[in-house]
Amino acid sequence: MTSFLNRILGTGKSTNRDYLAARLREQGLEVVLTREPGGTPLAEKIRELLLAPSDEAMDADTELLLVFAARAQHLAQVIRPALAKGAVVLCDRFTDATYAYQGGGRGLSVERIATLEQFVQGDLRPDLTLVFDLPVEVGLARAAARGRLDRFEQEGQAFFEAVRQAYLQRAQREPQRYSLLDAAQSLDMVQRDIDALLQGIVVRCRG
Ligand code: TMP
Repeated sequence: MTSFLNRILGTGKSTNRDYLAARLREQGLEVVLTREPGGTPLAEKIRELLLAPSDEAMDADTELLLVFAARAQHLAQVIRPALAKGAVVLCDRFTDATYAYQGGGRGLSVERIATLEQFVQGDLRPDLTLVFDLPVEVGLARAAARGRLDRFEQEGQAFFEAVRQAYLQRAQREPQRYSLLDAAQSLDMVQRDIDALLQGIVVRCRG
């Protein structure tokens, strides 16, 4: 069973990811907690390429191919072996982020992304995606307060509005595969929402 987290930015995703992993482990599940882009030494190097601000503008196709190159490595080294031994994979971002950022944000076509998704993943799809949703201006302010911005975080409001809409549309289209959480609430409230979802997630993990 694979479970994937997504956020726009500044939503407390890492804290909530760790919280969910801890709750699932308390239930006796083996959880492999990982992230994208990254999750292996080589994929982390690709992540550095993707996130580092640069004077040379990165072509949107280059960005898309790098994201999927990192994913191919991550699937081969971490995700597929973990699933094969029966672990739950909890991944901080996955292909929904590609549809949101490279699709919504960069304007690449869904068909092109879907072609690469099939090529790299075959039929592997997450069982569940949690989306931590937040108004864009709140997320931008939280990211700015954290300090130095990476190449994505340097994008403006319009980019993140498009990212957010892409996530929300995907969540709306496939409600059984997405849980939308209101990340504008206090951390306590978000974690209460996670607790409310927990039994359903555990059942899916055991299924
Ligand atoms: P994060 O570790 O803060 O989530 O940063 C990862 C960044 O990479 C984030 O800005 C979203 C971006 N990203 C994509 O653009 N496409 C993808 O497929 C993934 C997984 C991440």
